[in-house]
Order: sequence, then structure tokens, then C-alpha cells
Amino acid sequence: MRLSVADHPLIKHKISILRDESTPSPIFRLLVEELVTLLAYEATRDVRITKVKIKTPLAITEGEKLSKPRPLIVPVLRAGLGMLEGMTKLLPSAEVGFLGIKRDEETLQPYTYANRLPDDLADRQVYIIDPMLATGGTLNDSIDYVFERGASSVTCVCLIGAPEGVENVKQHLGNKWPGRNVHVVLGALDEKLNEIGYIVPGLGDAGDRLYGTAAN
Ligand code: URA
Repeated sequence: MRLSVADHPLIKHKISILRDESTPSPIFRLLVEELVTLLAYEATRDVRITKVKIKTPLAITEGEKLSKPRPLIVPVLRAGLGMLEGMTKLLPSAEVGFLGIKRDEETLQPYTYANRLPDDLADRQVYIIDPMLATGGTLNDSIDYVFERGASSVTCVCLIGAPEGVENVKQHLGNKWPGRNVHVVLGALDEKLNEIGYIVPGLGDAGDRLYGTAAN
């Protein structure tokens, strides 16, 4: 597993505003979208391209375009939905599949309540988006779903990660998917998880901060 933690002053600036508990939902949503677009630039560095012939007004030349099959973006509901717009801005021709995974707040174990992924992901480059890499349980399940359907590589884009979660994903991949191509891109790597599985200092519950508490 390859881990990249963003090191760009604009990303640091925007994440600091996200963390601030006084940042209201409309600003929070806007910042998440902007941050994802910035992170997506790094996350898509390995997106597959194919050489194509292009006729400019002056000459015929060779260029590159995204290869087929198109990349698949998978937001993990509900909070990952807040990242979708930022990701499709950079990859407008990508397809989108959905996974609804919620963690049991007592056991901290994830369970899947919705799965709208194509059955066949053979040769697909998949981008999983979820704002918080906390225990790593949700990400492990999401990675399993797409590799089991034949995905060729997985890139996970998260705003904030905890060291415990990163380690858990690394171990899971080593045990279940050794040698597979997985890249985890984080906006920030925080200090730790607290006793109820929240990232510290983190930003609180990303879903609640994006959408309020109506879906709890
Ligand atoms: N999910 C969140 O929304 N925040 C955390 O800190 C951990 C998991």
C-alpha cells in the first residue's frame, strides 16, 4: 500500500477551517468539495491514458485521453457523498457506484446497508472516497467489494486519517490482497483515535457536519 499525505499550504489552510467547530455546514460543504479537487489531482496521477491522434487547426499530432474502461468513483455513504462533486469535477467522464456502509457505534464494526456497484469491475481503476479514515474497517470492506469484482487498482481519497486506521488497512491488504495496487491519499494524518473511534483532533462527525443530524 502506498500512502500519500498532502503537503500543500492551501490544503492545510482549508483543513484548518474544516476542523473549526464554528464553521457552518454550507462553508464546510464548499471546503470539502474544494479539498477533494485538490487531493484528486494527486490521487489521479496514475490514471490510465491512451495515445490518440488529434487534428489541431495547424497539424496532426499525438495526444493522450483517459483510457477505457473509464475510472469508477465510489463514494461511501453518507459522508462520502459530500466529496463526489469535487471528484467528478476533475474526472467528469468517470462512472459512479455507491456503497452505504455504517459503523455500529458500540462495536465500531462496519455493516453494509446499500450496494450499488457494477458486478463486473474487471480492469477498472476505482477511486473510493470517504472523508474520515478512522478505524479502517469501512475502507477495508469497500476495498474488498471492489477487488472481489475484479478492480485492477484502488485509490482511496480521505480528508483526514488516523495512524491506527492506516495501519489496519495496511495489515488487511497484506493478509487478503498482497501485492495489489492500492494508494491511500490523505489531506492530513492526525494524532490518534479516541475511545469511541473518533479521530483526534479530527473535525468531529463528517456526516453531521456536512448534512446535520437528521439521518442519525
Ligand atoms: N467518522 C467521522 O465522521 N469522524 C471521525 O472522527 C471518525 C469517523
